[in-house]
Amino acid sequence: MHTNATRSTPEATWPHFELRHLEPALGAEVLGLDLSQPVSDAVFTDIERAWHAHGLLLFREQSIDDLQQVAFAARFGELAHTLKPYEGAKVHPALMFVTNEKKDGHYVGALPDGEMYFHSDMCYREYPLSASMLYAMALPPAGGNTVFAGMYAAYEALPSELAQQIEGRLAMNSYEPGYGASNVRMRIETPATEHTLSFAHPVVRTHPAGGRKALYVNRLMTEYIVGIARSESDALLKTLFEHQEQPRFQYEHRWQLGDLLVWDNRCTLHARRDFPPTHLRKMRRVAVRGERPV
Ligand code: OGA
Ligand code: MN
Repeated sequence: MHTNATRSTPEATWPHFELRHLEPALGAEVLGLDLSQPVSDAVFTDIERAWHAHGLLLFREQSIDDLQQVAFAARFGELAHTLKPYEGAKVHPALMFVTNEKKDGHYVGALPDGEMYFHSDMCYREYPLSASMLYAMALPPAGGNTVFAGMYAAYEALPSELAQQIEGRLAMNSYEPGYGASNVRMRIETPATEHTLSFAHPVVRTHPAGGRKALYVNRLMTEYIVGIARSESDALLKTLFEHQEQPRFQYEHRWQLGDLLVWDNRCTLHARRDFPPTHLRKMRRVAVRGERPV
């Protein structure tokens, strides 16, 4: 006789909210939670489980202030203080705005420019970010989507010869302060300087929760693969970037005001589409310090 005993209903799996998949490779929307209210341990345990399963969670129609966002982000781990004293740091050292807003002729936040290539946040540091959380406060009428790419799926789809070639390798990830979104152009056109922040991490990293392997290189910040000739490294990275940026691994987010997105930098990449500089785009950002990649 047919039995559905092993088939879990959404309610049985997620008793505290509804979960809707965004794309097979990554992403899920959480429905039915108001993040301006404290989140109980039981609910958070399920949020974290869903986050680990999908790499990216979306909560729509949220109405939260600075410190409510800080409090929710802190549930994911130790907050990462921002590297520069942006305007948000007056409220909390982990708060910043990703925005093209200007006051007295100066940008008040980070990453103001339009397009940003695929990357994983702070992969050029010894302890990169685990979670990054953006909350949409002002949006241009068009453009500025954020595209996410699932690096478990990308790793698992690698041809076996390619997987063997990168097995056990480290890659140098670098960031030139001040170049921001156009860092990649700098990386190609000029050599690293004494101000460059760099750190070598495994090309394939293992997630501490669950032990799945993810591809951990990216077009914006990965400079070269350690221990092989530069020409060979350039060719290998080109192949890896093209592979990991295939649309079948992606979810493209079209922002609405009040959206809150939290992604896992250990198993996803993200990129930003261009948008007109004449329109205000403002995201409130809080992030969490991760472990050293292995
Ligand atoms: C970031 C980032 C993308 C965006 O905050 O790390 O890459 O869409 N933001 O603004
Ligand atoms: Mn980023």
